[in-house]
Amino acid sequence: MNKRQALSLFGNDISPIVLEVEFQTKDRLRFRLYDPNKQRFEVPLKIDGPGVTAEEANYEVEFSDDSSHFRIKRKSTGTVLWDSPLVDLFFSNQFLEITTTVPSTSVYGFGEHEHPTFKHNMDFVTYGMYARDQAPTSFANLYGVHPFYMCVEPDSNAHGVLLLNSNAQDVTLSPNPSLTFRTIGGILDFYLFMGPTPENVVQQYTEAIGRPHMPAYWSLGFQLSRWGYNSLDVLKATVDRMKHYDIPYDVQHYDIDYMERRLDFTYDKVNFAGLPEFMKELKKNGKHNVVILDPFVTKDEEPGTYRPYELGQEMGVWVNNSDGVTPAVGQAWPPGYSVFPDFTNPRTVEWWTTLCLEFKDVLDYDGIWIDMNEPSNFMRGQIPGCADTEINNPPYTPSITDRSLAEKTLCPDSKTYLGDHYNTHSLFGWSQTEPTFNVVQQATGKRAFVLSRSTFVGSGKHGAHWLGDNFSLWKDLRRSIIGILEFNLFGIPYIGADICGFNYNTTYELCLRWMQLGSFYPFSRNHNSEGNIEQDPAVFGDTFAEISRDTLRIRYSLLPYLYTLFYESHVHGGTVARSLMHEFTSDQETHGIDTAFLWGPAFMIAPVLEEATRSVSVYFPEAQWFDYYTVLPSAWKKTYTTVSAPLNKIPLYIRGGYILPQQAPATTTTESRLNPFGLIIALDEEGQASGSLFWDDGDSIDTIEKENYFLAKYTFSNVSGNIQDTYLHGGRCNLV
Ligand code: NOJ
Repeated sequence: MNKRQALSLFGNDISPIVLEVEFQTKDRLRFRLYDPNKQRFEVPLKIDGPGVTAEEANYEVEFSDDSSHFRIKRKSTGTVLWDSPLVDLFFSNQFLEITTTVPSTSVYGFGEHEHPTFKHNMDFVTYGMYARDQAPTSFANLYGVHPFYMCVEPDSNAHGVLLLNSNAQDVTLSPNPSLTFRTIGGILDFYLFMGPTPENVVQQYTEAIGRPHMPAYWSLGFQLSRWGYNSLDVLKATVDRMKHYDIPYDVQHYDIDYMERRLDFTYDKVNFAGLPEFMKELKKNGKHNVVILDPFVTKDEEPGTYRPYELGQEMGVWVNNSDGVTPAVGQAWPPGYSVFPDFTNPRTVEWWTTLCLEFKDVLDYDGIWIDMNEPSNFMRGQIPGCADTEINNPPYTPSITDRSLAEKTLCPDSKTYLGDHYNTHSLFGWSQTEPTFNVVQQATGKRAFVLSRSTFVGSGKHGAHWLGDNFSLWKDLRRSIIGILEFNLFGIPYIGADICGFNYNTTYELCLRWMQLGSFYPFSRNHNSEGNIEQDPAVFGDTFAEISRDTLRIRYSLLPYLYTLFYESHVHGGTVARSLMHEFTSDQETHGIDTAFLWGPAFMIAPVLEEATRSVSVYFPEAQWFDYYTVLPSAWKKTYTTVSAPLNKIPLYIRGGYILPQQAPATTTTESRLNPFGLIIALDEEGQASGSLFWDDGDSIDTIEKENYFLAKYTFSNVSGNIQDTYLHGGRCNLV
């Protein structure tokens, strides 16, 4: 295109630019706008396709006669999925903008933010995307970057769109309805996924960016954490009371207070004396251990005393200042000043691998939690501050908190192996995740567990995520469902939020309701910040503990179903936790529902989200539903019903037509995996049901690739139309 686009107000407009269209697969179209005369930064995530002809594709591309519009249509229906007026396109060095209309206001996605609703408000709302150490707050750009949305068309077909760009950016959602993308670097590299079901969209998306990893079975158990046990004695007391109440619990996390003076790869030999033995003891009891590591390394220890820094210095693994030679120096948890490993550099990967392997001999971890990897720095840029240049202070700053690219992180002109921090900032956590996954696998010889705070497109292939430093507020309880549904769209189905809230003191009732909801997060962990009251499920007395135990026992009994969903997601892409819209797309009523959600197609969770409330208004889409507790069929269909939810109960429903594998629960998955299996057979109105069970040893690497697994497909036919709930004995599955 020659000067067809408008001139930006920011100078350095580029012309000509090329619009290139690639028919990658019949359901995936790539279109990108770039400068043919100069290589600009591109995200190092290669998305290729075999290529298809225009006839084979499910989409068609057209330019209006005067080539002022670029359009993409769904071939089968003629629906216009994308329509960009090219006269409104800006392509300058540090400001790129494109607008498209979208076929409906049922738009979902974009991250990472704390959205007030799952279905977006399109009333001129702008969201910035730039990785940031930021507790969830409305409209703020949070830890990760996911420029991906899904739109449900008026006739209920769905498509998805990714803008593969890692620069600071924002998107405005307008009522026409339309979307305006603005980024300050790279190229405009779009991928469109044709669906037509929401599940197909996510499957096609993860086919492109990487399928979610297969989590270890133990990691689907309940997990306990807190920042601020501050001593092994306090931790032991917590573990003892969990045991006293026999609350299901598989994983213990160790936050930075286990470290000596918050130094990575150390542990506090005074307050946590005996930690290695304690971890081994937990392990002997069938539990697993996850240790936290931060991405900053102090440079100010006595020479000869802190190997992580000295080895890193010797190997040259740090993010550098703009001179490309001297390390960027900031300040974070450890004493003194810190440097930051550049995980885009293969030498850094070598350094990290060495240290994590060595550390395994000190603390026998099963997984690693990588925190603060936006990367967080407690200053605005490194010492001595950022030079006043166009790269540090671009002419346009997207709608991000503080309107500063250096706030709480490094200066944009810092140098990483892959290029300027300006381009690679939001890739920091992403670039740390894969090497950490690999080293955990190497160190343990088992399936890796990596929990990363910062994520980017494709992070789900190697890592889990949690929604960050939420607050012990009812609002945060409610919004956690939205975050969980969104990360399922982003290809990170192994996702949860800090149960009972991280910041602030929790309350009895909030924490109890949160334990109930959190028992059904794919990643189920109670975590708390330093200085707040204890909030593990055993600390509030008998009643609380019993309710938590009962709810977690429901989770544990359904883990074979949840694990099978993760298998499906790993192999075919797709979601584990789903919105009602996802399954009942043609029912418009479901489009705005984000107070209840599903595990896969068949299990509905309808939590209480308000204080002092003992009932929930639940929407039952068109299906045969069964109450999980009474196993009675309900007459509710396409209607809201108020169901009773006393303090000891979270409403749960099974959808007719499905068979859910289950197993008698126990205190850990190590034990529950030895228990008898059962099937919940919930018939639809025709008396039919089907389902499946994926089973393997739960933690070996590549069982699927090596075909070391068992996959049962069940079908059931019966005319009586009842739910059947039975444990089959002998620990084996009978195929029906
Ligand atoms: C920030 C993390 O988000 C939080 O979960 C953790 O407890 C603190 N860092 C301390 O490590």
